[in-house]
Amino acid sequence: MTIPEPGGPDALVWSEVPDPEPGPGEVIVDVRASAVNRADLLQRQGHYPPPPGTSAYPGLECSGVISAIGPDVAGWEVGREVCALLAGGGYAERVAVPAGQLLPVPAGVDVVDAAALPEVACTVWSNVVRVAGLAKGETLLLHGGGSGIGTFAIQLAVALGATVAVTARAAKHERLRKLGAAHTIDYREQDFVQEVRRVTGGRGADVILDIMGAAYLPRNVAALATGGRLVVIGMQGGRKGELDLGALLAKRGTITATALRSRPLDEKAEIVRGVREEVWPLVESGAVRPVVDRRVPMTEAARAHRLVESNDHVGKVLLTTG
Ligand SMILES: NC(=O)c1ccc[n+]([C@@H]2O[C@H](COP(=O)([O-])OP(=O)(O)OC[C@H]3O[C@@H](n4cnc5c(N)ncnc54)[C@H](OP(=O)(O)O)[C@@H]3O)[C@@H](O)[C@H]2O)c1
Repeated sequence: MTIPEPGGPDALVWSEVPDPEPGPGEVIVDVRASAVNRADLLQRQGHYPPPPGTSAYPGLECSGVISAIGPDVAGWEVGREVCALLAGGGYAERVAVPAGQLLPVPAGVDVVDAAALPEVACTVWSNVVRVAGLAKGETLLLHGGGSGIGTFAIQLAVALGATVAVTARAAKHERLRKLGAAHTIDYREQDFVQEVRRVTGGRGADVILDIMGAAYLPRNVAALATGGRLVVIGMQGGRKGELDLGALLAKRGTITATALRSRPLDEKAEIVRGVREEVWPLVESGAVRPVVDRRVPMTEAARAHRLVESNDHVGKVLLTTG
């Protein structure tokens, strides 16, 4: 899928392009599915260019079958069903993937649905577990509980023994409770700071996974428990906010902001290894499942982008080939 000129959903153009060749340390995956990520909308609009040296085409994850193996790759063979974290290029029939970013399709998961997992699993695990150290018995506040990230994070946090509160439009609350959210907050009608304090007996959230950035920064700090950790992964509400350091200091709180796509290959490989060791067993046991809103043919990616832009989806919107 090419983007000849940045713009609205119709800027996505399905065209014939040269097949990728596997470089050293890479494999070629024949793609069965990719998934729409929020970042793809920004890339399409020209606001989020691919990191240097990566595919110019959109698509941060895929699933499919290995069809060729480049030099210096061990442990993977042609014909193996896989899913993968990508820096780009997933909206395609074939993609070159650094071997360190491959994951097996978890037992019990359909190969197409497996495309819903790599980006959310790597983002959520690396931030909620590695960065924030969410522990059993703690409370996690998740903004955008109905997003791809949110629906995965609810399940992972519950599997780790945490209590989850989410913000989301009211229409999504029932689905999110079924996924394991103990507390659902309608951010349009309710003050999430008050709600989080109420449900934690005044303590606040031990960990907050934030996608709103500036718009929620002061309220996120207010919603933190003493020793709380705020991790910002999205800036849907703007990038420049005001931080009351006094309020953060009084709580001995920490704020971290991270991005996955721009990390060097070795860091991505390390995250993928961690996900395979710690998250894949939870997927294979059924404790964490891919949440797929719907499948859309990849050639109709513009329709999928309109849907994600409307925020009417819950979980992931997949793009399928063939
Ligand atoms: N830093 C990283 O490495 C990284 C990696 C992956 C994703 N992300 C970020 O994570 C976020 C989620 O990504 P995604 O692809 O899973 O997104 P998505 O499925 O498109 O979901 C976006 C969500 O934002 C929610 N939302 C909109 N306004 C809100 C508000 N004021 N308060 C709370 N929720 C609100 C929408 O839910 P409602 O309908 O309930 O409003 C929707 O569920 C994006 O910001 C993305 O850029 C970051």
